[in-house]
Amino acid sequence: MKNAVSWVLVVFLTISLLNNCLERKTYQEISKKQSFVDQLRQLYSSGDASSWPKPVLDPSKPVFTEIGHLPKVEFPADNPYSEDKSALGRTLFYDPRLSGSSQIACASCHDPELGWTDNKTFSFGHDRQLGSRNAMTILNIAYAQSLFWDGRAESLEEQSRMPIEDQKEMHEHIDIATDKIAKIKGYEILFEKAFGDSRVTKERIAKAISTFERTVVSPPSRFDKFIDGQKDLFTDNEVMGLHLFRTKAQCMNCHNSGYFSNNQFENDGTALLGSKQEDLGRYLVTKDPADAGKFRVPSLREITRTGPWMHNGAFSTLTDILTFYNSGNPEPPKKRSTVHEGITLHSQKSEMLKLLDLTKEEIAQLEAFLGTLSTRTTRPVPPKLPN
Ligand code: HEC
Ligand code: HEC
Repeated sequence: MKNAVSWVLVVFLTISLLNNCLERKTYQEISKKQSFVDQLRQLYSSGDASSWPKPVLDPSKPVFTEIGHLPKVEFPADNPYSEDKSALGRTLFYDPRLSGSSQIACASCHDPELGWTDNKTFSFGHDRQLGSRNAMTILNIAYAQSLFWDGRAESLEEQSRMPIEDQKEMHEHIDIATDKIAKIKGYEILFEKAFGDSRVTKERIAKAISTFERTVVSPPSRFDKFIDGQKDLFTDNEVMGLHLFRTKAQCMNCHNSGYFSNNQFENDGTALLGSKQEDLGRYLVTKDPADAGKFRVPSLREITRTGPWMHNGAFSTLTDILTFYNSGNPEPPKKRSTVHEGITLHSQKSEMLKLLDLTKEEIAQLEAFLGTLSTRTTRPVPPKLPN
């Protein structure tokens, strides 16, 4: 009897000792993790990016500038900023009389309440025709070095007539659109204030719209305030997400600088060549087979407001995008080749995209971080259109 009691005691003691050890180990792990996050929080919110942990970059040396604030907007020498020119541009941006039907304005597809895009997979334009690419936001467009998913326009001035003339978008000849604006009495004073006299030309329309677009810039986001020293503005998950973005998840190879894009063209496995949805991307501009399926790296600022995402609006949640990157952006084997105008083309996703091995928790942390790059939706009162 006595023997049995001591055995029970021994077993009981051993179990509680083991339990204690395990608890202490998990406790130690948790506190180790916590002190790692605390350390990262200190570094990233120090106001000094040179003290941040080194980013993990691809050995192929991508075009890289550290992430941070958006620099001041630079206006081109041949189209400097003025308040009156920007106000005229804003009015034109909202004016549907630039379109063939006089029903569709730039703001129809680039709506400030919808992140300056339309939150659709594909926009509809003239006669409710569907386009074949996802509308891009014009927020922070001053920082893009070329325009459109394939970079086919080199400046905003050059770009602005393209949607007016696009058959599926505004469907109007630029000279007719210009004449229509010139006939509107109320525009005279606006052109005079902006350009010194009331002459309406297509070049002036382009300059005014571009000047306005360059003023559509994000205010400081939570990310900007956090790195400036407001260290409690980020949750632990957001701190970890920022760190993963710069390191293990390797997003920094392409989405870098204050604009969160290095303005390069890359193939991230979304071209779907040989299928009905195929898009040759940059190849359509350069005709260089190596560019088949490449798109301009989009900015990630304001990303939570501008979905659905990618050139074809194929992704409707950020979790799906992160899961896609995590698995190394697999291209469906049957959708990697096509014959275009007699030339066989292959899609080759960037070698920078690899299996990332992120856990579910890490994916959630990255997503939390992406949320810190967005600012609040504004609902500006549309301008009064002149008559
Ligand atoms: C019918 C919808 C529609 C209308 C109207 C429209 N856009 Fe767009 N916009 C788009 C789509 C779609 C894209 C992307 C097209 C592509 O890459 O081929 C785009 C792209 C752009 C871009 C390039 C953004 C970037 O990140 O490169 C700018 C700038 C722009 N539009 C400005 C304008 C202006 C200015 C007007 C009016 C003159 C206008 N848009 C009218 C749908 C529209
Ligand atoms: C090799 C360069 C490259 C790397 C690395 C990369 N991206 Fe991208 N990213 C792109 C390109 C190019 C596109 C546009 C592709 C398209 O339109 O089909 C894109 C699109 C996106 C979009 C959609 C943007 C929009 O406006 O539609 C998100 C979100 C995104 N990337 C997040 C990330 C994250 C997060 C990482 C890290 C896990 C990452 N990217 C790594 C090149 C890259």
